[in-house]
Amino acid sequence: GLKIAVIGGGSSYTPELLEGIINNQELLRVEELWLVDIEEGKQKLSIIEGLVKRMIQASGHSVKIIATFNRQEAIKGADYIITQFRVGQLKMRRYDEYIAIKHRVIGQETTGAGGFMKALRTIPVILDICNDIEQLAPEAWLLNFTNPAGIVTEAVLKHSDVKVIGLCNNPINYYKKFAAIYNVSMNDVSINFTGINHLLWLTELYIKGESRIKDVFHGCSDIYEAKNIPDFGWDLQFLRSLGAIPCGYHKYYYQSDQILQQQLEEFKRNETRADQVQKIERELFATYQNPNLIEKPKVLEQRGGAYYSEAAVHLMKSIELNTKEVHTLNVRNNGAISCLPINACIEVNCVVERHQVTPLQVGQVSPQIRGLLQHVKAYEELTVEAGVNGDKGVAHQALTSHPLIPSAEQAKTILKEMFFVNKEFLPQF
Ligand code: NAD
Ligand code: G6P
Ligand code: MN
Ligand code: MN
Repeated sequence: GLKIAVIGGGSSYTPELLEGIINNQELLRVEELWLVDIEEGKQKLSIIEGLVKRMIQASGHSVKIIATFNRQEAIKGADYIITQFRVGQLKMRRYDEYIAIKHRVIGQETTGAGGFMKALRTIPVILDICNDIEQLAPEAWLLNFTNPAGIVTEAVLKHSDVKVIGLCNNPINYYKKFAAIYNVSMNDVSINFTGINHLLWLTELYIKGESRIKDVFHGCSDIYEAKNIPDFGWDLQFLRSLGAIPCGYHKYYYQSDQILQQQLEEFKRNETRADQVQKIERELFATYQNPNLIEKPKVLEQRGGAYYSEAAVHLMKSIELNTKEVHTLNVRNNGAISCLPINACIEVNCVVERHQVTPLQVGQVSPQIRGLLQHVKAYEELTVEAGVNGDKGVAHQALTSHPLIPSAEQAKTILKEMFFVNKEFLPQF
């Protein structure tokens, strides 16, 4: 049977992962599930442990659940390590958003200044985890969800020998949404993706092999939107000349003024996404403590990451059974997107085999896509370098390169404030 270690086990998303495991246990045959957290997450971990054990018991399957602070023991001999931790907890996410918005730039968990700061906090921790994996489970797959997933995965690809795959719930949610709209199975939906994590364009949509992307361009078909993304829609004329469907996170670039306006309002009311999530989380953990609860509750769908576990479980199943299927994953470019560096992390369709994951060739990217894609990837490349080497000059260049940061001066001011509140999380600087 499989040994799986979940780093950040106290996450409110864990019951969703359990649901996925339970539904696929006949094929997956998970023997041990280790939930790893740290002292700060003690209370959450113990509530999750209780719920997860009840879920397993109710399912009739026998999976051994071990909640622990001992990361090494959990990683040792594991087949899969799933990372879903948040360095500095939601408190630091709130700072990421607030410091940015205070300076009138977009404040977001993964995009812009907020995502940049989250990356700098996360990179030292993920590389430490990779060290453990290299020593204690060199054959294991690391499935990374920790955001900013593209940057964090790129740091691992460049600075460790660990077999890593970065995952996001966005791609699978497009399949789900289009399957529902066209009333077909997910297997009858094919999508061509180009881009990087949270900057993903859908360049083709096929339903049973027939191209249907024009349905979206003419408003006959809905697009998936995660719960954390503002829900104002797209200008269809704009989509037609773009020639692709942008992901929700593109709104931060294509509709920056409108988003910033909304964020300034939320800021005044103390209701940014971090505040909203803190509230949802309190509700979730209150629900989780109910001893009669034996399944994933509905409230979890209010979180942006809904169905992330389905992506993880499908992927593990594909690897285990060596089904050689296509999954949309964050992997090393290797030339699949020719206008990006060979060692960049990209998010595209990949063929998954038991021993390797290979990105499918994307081919030429239109200039509409290429400009923003190269711009943001250059920012990510610099962010990885800053996060690993702890060079403040590189950090300043990285943030200044981000398309949502208006000036070097502004970047410097934001950096200074962010570094001040993040001091304890930046051992590399
Ligand atoms: P959370 O705030 O609940 O954090 C999860 C757990 O991580 C907490 O219990 C915390 O104590 C623990 N943690 C913090 N530092 C740790 C460390 N060094 N080692 C082990 N555990 C540690 O966060 P969340 O909202 O559940 O999200 C978790 C992570 O997953 C975030 O990074 C988030 O951005 C990401 N996420 C990604 C996707 C995706 O699409 N890739 C989807 C959902 C969530
Ligand atoms: C999306 C993204 C995740 C992100 C989440 C945020 O689904 O794909 O990467 O972590 O939303 O959701 P939250 O509820 O934390 O704002
Ligand atoms: Mn084994
Ligand atoms: Mn994501």
